[in-house]
Amino acid sequence: MPRIATMFFKFAVVFLLLGILMGLQMAISGNHNVIGAHAHSNLLGWVTSAVFGGYYALNPAKAETRLAGIHFWIYTVSIAIMIPALYLFYLGYQAVEPLLPITSIAALVAVLVFAVVVYAPAVPSSGRAKLSPAE
Ligand code: HEM
Ligand code: HEM
Repeated sequence: MPRIATMFFKFAVVFLLLGILMGLQMAISGNHNVIGAHAHSNLLGWVTSAVFGGYYALNPAKAETRLAGIHFWIYTVSIAIMIPALYLFYLGYQAVEPLLPITSIAALVAVLVFAVVVYAPAVPSSGRAKLSPAE
């Protein structure tokens, strides 16, 4: 599997664990106060990151591009800040609120970069590019 796909899955599974812990916190306490942090940890952190990882696993040539790295770093840094901030926000710590639009816009930028990766023409992987037809 391409390195970036592995990195997306390593990132994603952390947010699945955090999302499940928040879900259990709500279920056990009976207080569903952190629902937004739980939903977005699972959906932006786990599901969306895993979909990105799956895309790069299926498109290894695109996984090697510089744009894929830019996509990974902008997305993961923004989500890694957004989810803890969202959790604190839902607990009532209003001071973290400015982080939410900043990280949301950064996540949007990351998805725009991903859109460019998706629409860009397929590039041959470096290994295959060296093969001549006779090989
Ligand atoms: C053991 C794991 C989980 C537990 C204990 C759990 C628990 C909960 C609880 C207690 C709520 C609040 C329900 C309400 O107030 O209406 C909730 C909402 C939600 N959960 Fe989970 N959850 C778990 C896993 C997941 C996963 C894996 C996902 C997504 C991949 C997910 C997505 C959501 C969403 C989107 C909502 C919001 C639903 C709405 O807006 O009505 N949950 N969860
Ligand atoms: C940066 C991107 C995103 C922003 C800024 C955002 C923002 C929001 C906001 C403001 C709400 C309403 C929360 C409330 O009423 O308390 C919400 C709810 C929700 N969003 Fe998102 N969202 C984003 C991405 C996503 C994605 C990618 C998914 C699914 C893959 C998603 C799924 C949901 C669901 C299921 C709910 C209802 C659960 C809840 O009440 O928290 N969101 N979102």
